Amino acid sequence: MPNLTYIEANGNVHSVQANEGTNLMEIAVANLIPGILGDCGGSCSCATCHTYVDPSWVASVPAATDEELEILEGALDVRENSRLACQVVMSSALDGLVVRIPHRQF
Ligand code: FES
Repeated sequence: MPNLTYIEANGNVHSVQANEGTNLMEIAVANLIPGILGDCGGSCSCATCHTYVDPSWVASVPAATDEELEILEGALDVRENSRLACQVVMSSALDGLVVRIPHRQF
């Protein structure tokens, strides 16, 4: 099972085992990771699953769709490495992925 690490804005680190085929929002919610809300249930419409992909992983994560980029425009503190966690699906290729959680979602 691939490993995935979430880092909260306050520096708290959460490393979890992640099922392939599950998105990063679902994994965070299932593991009670603070700061990823997933209010829309993963339908790419709320931006409460905003995360920052670690720069060393940006090239490995499949690119965002136009729909994701449009919703991200409504998120706070958006950066070049911003992604919606519900739109990134865990795979063996992402084993070791690190994402950071913004200090606020809205
Ligand atoms: S959970 Fe709503 S956009 Fe990701």
